[in-house]
Amino acid sequence: MSQSVRRASAVLVVCHAVALSACSYSASQSSTTMGTSVGASSASRAPGDPRIAPRVAAQFPSTWRLPAGAQATFAPNAMAVSNSMHASDAASEILKRGGNAVDAAVALGFALAVTWPEAGNIGGGGYMVIKLADGRTAAVDYREIAPKASSRDMYLDANGKLTDKSIVGHLASGVPGAVAGMAHALEKYGTMSLREVIQPAIKLARDGFVVDSALASSIRGTDRVPRFDGKTLFFPNGQPLTTGARLVQPELARTLQAIADNGVQGFYRGWVADSLVAEMSRGGGIMTRDDLAGYTPRERTPIRSTYRGFTLLAMPPSSSGGVTMTESLNILETWPRTAPHGSTMWHHSVASAYQRAFVDRNSKLGDPDFISVPLEQLISKSYARQLRSTVRDDRATPTRDVDSMMKAPLREPMNTTHYSVVDRAGNAVATTTTLNGSWGSGVWVRGAGFFLNNEMDDFAAQPGMPNMFGLVQGEQNAIQPGKRMLSAMSPTIVLDSASQVLLVVGAAGGPTIITGTSQIVLNVLDHRMNLADAMRAPRLHHQALPDSLRYETGGMTTAVADSLRAMGWALQPVRALVNVNAIMRVKGGWEGVPEPRRSGGASGH
Ligand code: GLY
Repeated sequence: MSQSVRRASAVLVVCHAVALSACSYSASQSSTTMGTSVGASSASRAPGDPRIAPRVAAQFPSTWRLPAGAQATFAPNAMAVSNSMHASDAASEILKRGGNAVDAAVALGFALAVTWPEAGNIGGGGYMVIKLADGRTAAVDYREIAPKASSRDMYLDANGKLTDKSIVGHLASGVPGAVAGMAHALEKYGTMSLREVIQPAIKLARDGFVVDSALASSIRGTDRVPRFDGKTLFFPNGQPLTTGARLVQPELARTLQAIADNGVQGFYRGWVADSLVAEMSRGGGIMTRDDLAGYTPRERTPIRSTYRGFTLLAMPPSSSGGVTMTESLNILETWPRTAPHGSTMWHHSVASAYQRAFVDRNSKLGDPDFISVPLEQLISKSYARQLRSTVRDDRATPTRDVDSMMKAPLREPMNTTHYSVVDRAGNAVATTTTLNGSWGSGVWVRGAGFFLNNEMDDFAAQPGMPNMFGLVQGEQNAIQPGKRMLSAMSPTIVLDSASQVLLVVGAAGGPTIITGTSQIVLNVLDHRMNLADAMRAPRLHHQALPDSLRYETGGMTTAVADSLRAMGWALQPVRALVNVNAIMRVKGGWEGVPEPRRSGGASGH
């Protein structure tokens, strides 16, 4: 495998107002550095498979920093893509040894807990969507749950004001589901033992690995880790680990070994559980042994929807990801043709669809074990037509009068991580997992060597008030003991007309997960971009409240921005939106692309 620097081209698109036909194009060139890759790219090759439509060269504004025309990693048989090259390689190792995509995904998940500790985890939770080559599909929900001693107003102070205890420290954690969920998926859909697939993670923790610039920057950027015991490891002598340092995690290795030896009981009972509960006692947390022993993952039916002839398999509640994405795509499908990427009408239609789907998300979704979710209605095509009738083609619709909230900054960087895996047989796994904020609650379990989530903030800690993602959610997502907090995680698998896997995709980034994931789908299906361009294309986001259309700096032309403002959109530029990792089927194999805005790696054979 080698690091490669390749030439890439970009094309300027200028569109005036909503007159979509009035777009002019001019080409420019620049060079770009891609992640580690194997084999040659097929980004520009004409696919011979009739089910893969020919790709069309993408055209981005000249001001955009990720020009089109870069290459993806290609592998003929199997592929894994994640935010950590080490973790992708761990999955690849399992795939090469004959493991299937589920075996490899679980190996990758445990390895990420070692090599991408800001988000990869055993102290958090996640979701896994599986499509097996024999036609079976599955959705494993291993979201954290609220501890038994939690209560609706536990994060309000004596004056009824929201504190930061849902975000930092020992009270912020839900009961972790990651180990139980991954073990469940492996046992039911994998072919290898937990002991086998966890070996690469144990080795990485025990022998260590070299800290790269992305991890070093993440360590440097956290003010949370130094407040708890993890500082001994990540801030030796009070200084953050730097690029090139070797990170050895003997305590985490011991915990992983306990899981290898005793299965899920090695985590949820025994000395690891004791360490976690002791950590809770030290910091005023409420999670008990009983909470841990009682955790069970849920197997749910994936949402199966269609978009312009393709089938999507997506995650149902307790994640909002699948419903909100399906609702958005259903609304967009009511336009007979998708507007050109980057045009005023593209921004207007896509943002209007998201805005409406997020209104439903924020008011109607929650843990289906606790509330009644109108799932069938929300994902129906007839409901989408109804919503479409509320969109004017020449004007934005205000979500509400929320000027002051629109200016509210996000309270902290968000972090989650997604990985995609495919194997030689055509099995596919899309997994998204999270500690919620970067480095979770900051709490590191003394003696067991892992970080705990701050997922309790994904509840509406004070219904009607924004959480750390600025999401304003209602009573349906209020805290209740044993309840799963609503998520935006959107692991998704797209099938072609022959029910073969075309795309495996998902993202990190709180509510932007939904919009970012769906834009990769749109870029591939509507705009027929190859995967590298689809990933590099400028992104937008709308989540109803705050009522602003976020876009990536440099990713929107001035003419389009002026037109959108004239239509009533409040625009909010942001440096980068979403962290996606995706795989796409191409002629003769697979292309994998880790997020070009962050770090990561694609590994295959
Ligand atoms: N923690 C982010 C999410 O689940 O949406």
